[in-house]
Amino acid sequence: MKVDLLQMVESGGCSAKISPGQLEEILKNLPLPEDPNILVGIDTHDDAGVYKVNDDLALVLTTDFFPPVCSDPYEFGQIAAANSISDIYAMGGTPVIALNIMMFPASKLPMEAYAAILKGGYEMASEAGVRIIGGHTIDDTPPKYGLAVVGYIHPDKIITNAGARPGETLILTKPVGTGIILAGQRLKMADEKDVKEALKLMKILNKTGADVMKEFNIKGATDITGFGLAGHALKMARASNVSITLKMRQIPLIGNAYRIIDEGCIPGAAFRNLDFAGQETYFSGDLDYNLKMIAFDAQTSGGLLMSVPQGKVDAVLNELHQRGLSDSTVIGSVTAKCDKFLYIEN
Ligand code: CO
Ligand code: CO
Ligand code: CO
Repeated sequence: MKVDLLQMVESGGCSAKISPGQLEEILKNLPLPEDPNILVGIDTHDDAGVYKVNDDLALVLTTDFFPPVCSDPYEFGQIAAANSISDIYAMGGTPVIALNIMMFPASKLPMEAYAAILKGGYEMASEAGVRIIGGHTIDDTPPKYGLAVVGYIHPDKIITNAGARPGETLILTKPVGTGIILAGQRLKMADEKDVKEALKLMKILNKTGADVMKEFNIKGATDITGFGLAGHALKMARASNVSITLKMRQIPLIGNAYRIIDEGCIPGAAFRNLDFAGQETYFSGDLDYNLKMIAFDAQTSGGLLMSVPQGKVDAVLNELHQRGLSDSTVIGSVTAKCDKFLYIEN
């Protein structure tokens, strides 16, 4: 029996996240744990938590899981794992061990599909050098999969979303548009080639980008996932207390993402993200509406957004290109905090 996981979901991948606004509302009433060893906690909404073990070692912890983004169970496992591990890379950490998190409808799908999802996850984890040493399953529809990941980092070498400084330049390592392409696939508005391209990009580990960040001693970064490029840029601006300007025409897009959104296919998650960030964002008067919505498109397993000091920009870009991240490009800049945290221009 050929399984099509997309038959079981309305919105898959990071598009299925709770809206960032609702999440902040809930988190703000939670008491924050107090412990001097918490180097990165919930308060800065960073990609992962960091806990100091001793002067030379801290642990980086994160978890991500979501409903299917594609039809094939094996490929879904690969993408979910790459996405989960990404948050460790975004902090500059080295991912080491992980646990499987699985929700699977045992009465609705053959067990082979379960095995294929885990196998995809296992192989992506192996590529990242991560050992999966356990997990947990709940019988649930639709299926959901991801990892809880632990990484190592030196306590002085943490890359955070609070590390962006005025005068720096923003580099993005993957094109944007996975949410639009996947929604377009559902409505038969995206062609096969674009879907293939999106799937390929989601399977690329952010390891290479993280290696380059470490090599160039980058301090500020995040990865682009469910809140979209603008949502994560806003979180970075807030945590760093700076303003960020995004130049939308410079952002590389996957295939026909622009055409698809122009024809009216705007994923619901993009409106949710816009709703969250709108108050703290200045949109230039001539901003192209399609580009505006692209800024808020929820990405699954998106690229790294790194804040690079002026003198290093060319060398970092060159290195990213050399190592195969050929879409890496400058997409904006960081300034001292102005009226708004985020500025979006054509
Ligand atoms: Co993240
Ligand atoms: Co995450
Ligand atoms: Co258990």
